[in-house]
Amino acid sequence: MNPPSSLPFWCVVPAAGVGSRMRADRPKQYLTLSGRTILEHTLARLLAQPGLQRVVVSLSPDDPYWPHVAQAADERVWTAPGGKERADSVLSALDRLVAAGVDEHAWVLVHDAARPNLAPEDLARLLATLADDPVGGLLAGPSRDTLKLIGPDGRVVQTLDRAAIWQAYTPQMFRLGLLRTALSDALAAGAQMTDEASAMERLGYSPRLVEGRTDNIKVTRPEDLEWLQRAWGDPL
Ligand code: C5P
Repeated sequence: MNPPSSLPFWCVVPAAGVGSRMRADRPKQYLTLSGRTILEHTLARLLAQPGLQRVVVSLSPDDPYWPHVAQAADERVWTAPGGKERADSVLSALDRLVAAGVDEHAWVLVHDAARPNLAPEDLARLLATLADDPVGGLLAGPSRDTLKLIGPDGRVVQTLDRAAIWQAYTPQMFRLGLLRTALSDALAAGAQMTDEASAMERLGYSPRLVEGRTDNIKVTRPEDLEWLQRAWGDPL
């Protein structure tokens, strides 16, 4: 295990999504795990890391749940208005950091609100590995399953070489100024992006992959929450 990193860093937590695939009565980040909301667990993991300066949480403008979040009262936690797509929500949070005078070279870690099981060792290793990196990078893991490219008729077009395919997790760690340019460029061009690294790749950068634990799952479907509840010993 790496020693704890005290590299200064900032965080952005996009939490303005609806999470319709959960089919729940509220956005997934406000569902409960071990007596606290998913967002509270996510924020607690980030706030516990030495070197953390501020966390900006992007919220839907009519979010009624945020005032009840334990960390809403923490002075290290700021908010920003979320946007239509995830990239808009992230960009809005980055704008908040720029408006506060944060240096454009500062490291920013973008972490999904719906990933409450980030291991402290993974976070520390990401920071330590990328501290001097010219580009930045992200936590990721090699694909466990055989991967198929599917055609419009629901049949296999090709089997992909899984040794060369990794799944992208978060946090994704880049410099404030460069990430902001990459996201605003991509949004202006109407490019499809589901993570920050792909915006950097569009500009010709090659983010580094840092292997992380596969249980850093993003709660997306009901069975993901059930899996975490079991893993954390919650009564089901
Ligand atoms: O929908 P998905 O699970 O990919 O969302 C990933 C993260 O992005 C979630 O934490 C979600 O709240 C956030 N998001 C956002 N603004 C949007 C869409 C998603 O902050 N417009």
